[in-house]
Amino acid sequence: MRLANKTALITGGSKGIGRAIAQRFLAEGANVIIFDIEKPQYKIEFYQVDISKEEQIENAFRQIKKLDILVNNAGVYFQAPIEKTAKEQLDKIVDVNLKGTYLMCKHAIPLIVKSKGNIVNISSGLGIVPEPESPAYCSTKAAIIMLTKCMAQEYASKGVRVNAVLPGPIDTPLLRGAFHPQKELDEYAKLNPMKRIGKPEEVANVAVFLASDEASYVTGGLYSVDGGESASSLYSK
Ligand SMILES: NC(=O)c1ccc[n+]([C@@H]2O[C@H](COP(=O)([O-])OP(=O)(O)OC[C@H]3O[C@@H](n4cnc5c(N)ncnc54)[C@H](O)[C@@H]3O)[C@@H](O)[C@H]2O)c1
Repeated sequence: MRLANKTALITGGSKGIGRAIAQRFLAEGANVIIFDIEKPQYKIEFYQVDISKEEQIENAFRQIKKLDILVNNAGVYFQAPIEKTAKEQLDKIVDVNLKGTYLMCKHAIPLIVKSKGNIVNISSGLGIVPEPESPAYCSTKAAIIMLTKCMAQEYASKGVRVNAVLPGPIDTPLLRGAFHPQKELDEYAKLNPMKRIGKPEEVANVAVFLASDEASYVTGGLYSVDGGESASSLYSK
């Protein structure tokens, strides 16, 4: 088992990609802790934490004594062109996606340095390829990529690794919320080089590799899990 005797904290592990990562980490022998605003519908160590609230993060961390792996997965999404973005929408997405990820790193890093552990940040293909309908989301996901690189450099000499996974369209409640009718989602899937939407487990497969000792010389890396979407161009078939 790749993660035997490791303690892993996953944000947003109640649903979607975070849940798939949690299930996979459990199967690989990890002791898994979830921070989420929603209670998970499966048996797991759980703290009700809104990652955009630093005091809630601090309170939960008082009870965590050992940590080897942090997966920053919790995130939110909305579509609105820049001229129609309300300040409240912008505040929320920056507070959760960017500040939440940042604050989780801030409070986890002393424990991760002690264990010479690692961090896996769930960014997005939209952190490197623009989606004009969601400039706020794309900006927060690009920021997570730079945070990943900065932290990888800062902590490499301490034996700590920091990597990012960049999922493409993955079948989760978040994606289903963005594409309401199934027909719209089917049309979108046809645009992907592999002509399909990804499964949360396919993201979990990459996260488990990055979190494991098999990735011992891997840091500061960006790993796309998107059926080739972010590598496509005007010439793609
Ligand atoms: N699904 C996709 O197509 C896709 C593509 C690229 C990137 N991503 C990223 O993957 C991550 C997971 O996405 P998903 O599709 O599984 O989303 P989801 O909405 O299905 O699940 C997100 C989970 O995060 C939790 N969460 C939301 N806000 C929170 C907060 N403030 N504090 C703590 N927990 C919170 C939710 O309760 C939920 O359990 C996100 O960061 C998302 O941006 C998803």
